[in-house]
Amino acid sequence: MLNIILMGPPGAGKGTQAKKIIAAYGIPHISTGDMFREAIAAKTPTGELAASYINKGMLVPDEVTIALVKERLSKDDCAKGFLLDGFPRTIPQAEALEKLTKEINRPISAVINITAEKDVLVKRITGRRVCKSCGAPFHIETLKPKVEGVCDYCGGELMQRKDDTLESLAVRLDAYEHQTLPLVKFYADRNLLHDIDGLIGLENVFKIICDIFERIK
Ligand code: AP5
Repeated sequence: MLNIILMGPPGAGKGTQAKKIIAAYGIPHISTGDMFREAIAAKTPTGELAASYINKGMLVPDEVTIALVKERLSKDDCAKGFLLDGFPRTIPQAEALEKLTKEINRPISAVINITAEKDVLVKRITGRRVCKSCGAPFHIETLKPKVEGVCDYCGGELMQRKDDTLESLAVRLDAYEHQTLPLVKFYADRNLLHDIDGLIGLENVFKIICDIFERIK
């Protein structure tokens, strides 16, 4: 069963690999970042709360994030596998997820941890453009769309994310280091962790992910 967690710092390539994984394996993509951005666009109370944290680069409070994932993971389409992208990001989130996956009998089968150094992350994030409609990530130098400003997947308009400024990124990297990095040990202790060097190119990263999936399927 592919019950997967995709981890890594901002700009490691989680969203990019998630697009390829969904296309190849057809499992639901549960990205807390995307869910919050949808809530912000829809101007829901959760969206308004989330925006006040996300735009500054801070993590949204655990109780809000955990409730969102609990509801989504319990849906029927997750019975045959799921891809969690950007969740969990704190030890309380990981503990809540462990409890939930036991309750619903959908245990995590692998944690893919994509790594990359800070200077690379800064270049990737500041040069990133995302689709307004489907969220697909592109880059002004390394991953240009076929037509400038237009999404290859859905034809939507490309834009820069509000939290992709140098100021917000510094806060996001700090949150990653202090709140998310402890999860590496958490999942290594459970023999679930697979580290992948995120600097080896999109296709090479994807090939390693596919090899892992074939072993655990
Ligand atoms: P989220 O949307 O999850 O953002 P993030 O984790 O900061 O990650 P990014 O989307 O910035 O990067 P990515 O790793 O997906 O990289 P990408 O593939 O786009 O979260 C946003 C915010 O929501 C958080 O800051 C927080 O406030 C809140 N939030 C979300 N989840 C939360 C949680 N669990 N708890 C609390 N708060 C939460 O790639 C980046 C660029 O690099 C692209 O341009 C791409 O083309 C390029 N690229 C990717 N891979 C490669 C490669 N191998 N070689 C060359 N270029 C590459």
